[in-house]
Amino acid sequence: MKNSAPASLVPVGTRVPPRWRKEVERVLITEQQIARRIHAMSRDIERDFRGRETVVVSLLNGTVMFLADLIRHLSLPLRLDFIGVSSYGAGTESGELVFTKELRLDMRGRDVLLVDDILDTGRTLSRVIPKLRALKPRRIKMVVLLDKPERRVEKVEADYVGFTIPNVFVVGYGLDYAEKYRNLPFVGVLKPEIYQR
Ligand code: PRP
Repeated sequence: MKNSAPASLVPVGTRVPPRWRKEVERVLITEQQIARRIHAMSRDIERDFRGRETVVVSLLNGTVMFLADLIRHLSLPLRLDFIGVSSYGAGTESGELVFTKELRLDMRGRDVLLVDDILDTGRTLSRVIPKLRALKPRRIKMVVLLDKPERRVEKVEADYVGFTIPNVFVVGYGLDYAEKYRNLPFVGVLKPEIYQR
């Protein structure tokens, strides 16, 4: 089941914390909005997974915060595994994909919940999904915090979407630009002069 929620309804008066004002243009999604949405998504996931043995596969590195917040709400018998995949380089475009960590757990016959922070062009998930399918899970469901459908080049859709967002450069809550800004507790729009220089 696909879910989405408006991402533009940031409460009036929400301001970028002073520490980040030089680099971050505006808050796109607040910490509170993220928390509420994750709570709602976790209820949908729990209902669909019906207590079955689950392997949560999380993509490094951007999922750190989302994963931690999501799984603490999932009352499922789950195991956790990580797959490392990164687009080469530090730019804003998805480049060549490199696998930096392989899966360890046995997926055969299990329900798999694949977790990513953002679904952008779809290149990453379109490479990861066949790799997972080859391990013969019972089924694979995908959850992403953010979906940027305007940028899609591969035919990939997530089963659970936190927020559908416009084509703006977002950082924070795990998402980076050149490995920075992952520690912001909110999702913010990066100022163009930061990534255009
Ligand atoms: C980002 C993000 C997604 C992917 C989405 O990962 O975490 O996995 O890009 O983009 P796509 O849909 O265009 O493939 P990145 O490669 O930047 O690595 P990171 O998770 O370490 O930030």
